[in-house]
Amino acid sequence: MKKILIVGAGGQIGSELVTYLRGIYGGSNVIAADLRENEKLAADGPFVKLDALDQSSFAYTVHKNGVDAIFNLVALLSATGEKNPQLAWNINMGALNNSLEIAREYKCAVFTPSSIGAFGGDFPRQNTPQDTVMQPDTMYGVCKVAGELLSNYYYSRYDVDTRSVRFPGIISNVTLPGGGTTDYAVEIFYSAVKGEKFVCPVRDVYMDMMYMPDALRAMVELMEADPAKLRHRNSFNIASMSFTPDIIYNEIRKRIPDFEMTYRIDPVKQNIAEGWPDKLDDTCAREEWGWKPEWDLSSMTDDMIRAIKAKNL
Ligand code: SER
Repeated sequence: MKKILIVGAGGQIGSELVTYLRGIYGGSNVIAADLRENEKLAADGPFVKLDALDQSSFAYTVHKNGVDAIFNLVALLSATGEKNPQLAWNINMGALNNSLEIAREYKCAVFTPSSIGAFGGDFPRQNTPQDTVMQPDTMYGVCKVAGELLSNYYYSRYDVDTRSVRFPGIISNVTLPGGGTTDYAVEIFYSAVKGEKFVCPVRDVYMDMMYMPDALRAMVELMEADPAKLRHRNSFNIASMSFTPDIIYNEIRKRIPDFEMTYRIDPVKQNIAEGWPDKLDDTCAREEWGWKPEWDLSSMTDDMIRAIKAKNL
């Protein structure tokens, strides 16, 4: 990767990926693109206001800048997707389709995140294998499975260098996630640090989670991996921690003893969470490109509390 374009750069992952990639590849070589103006992303490198569904503007940006790698981070997340499934399909598949077509024309590599949300139906919830039943019943999951297949198709049919991971819920402290089922695992930290009681929308359900620094490193390590070693491409299971709301609540209480949590179940989110894996098996990622997480529940909790305290909210 020499010249990188990140579409959907203003979101939870993009806003940190831009900084991370600029640190590795040089500020001017990482172009951030988003639907909305973003002063922070424009401060230390190129920024383009771009609608990823507008194929000709997207293609023009790639061509004009000599882009050789596209990170497509445009997506409506799982809970929002259930409020407006047609919009979720149009945005999630439209941005991916444009990324793949433009990559085919201009010979770019493409990274698009898949998700734990791609799983569904009768699959093993414990140590969910890389290759198993994937019959999701959310529009978000349908888009993720379709996206994995389409990305594999572009690789085998057109030799587009597509690679991707199935992200767990991402825990971070720069930009809030929005509309996801795993968002509670970020929001809980803000309540804890602000001294507020947290109202949790899901209960007694394990979901895979990952701290942002591991997620950022995973993207770069996969994109830089030796292609000869990749048996899979779209998409690799990756894992680092898995917990229920009670488990993370108790972990935070070890550091903030008077923190309180109560439940008000969101039936849509609860239902989605129960349909997802409890814990992924990431053996293929470990074997094929050396994936290894560096953060666990305890170290992530320490760092989240430190970082959110430093914001002086
Ligand atoms: N974080 C996403 C969601 O909850 C899952 O990939 O929708």
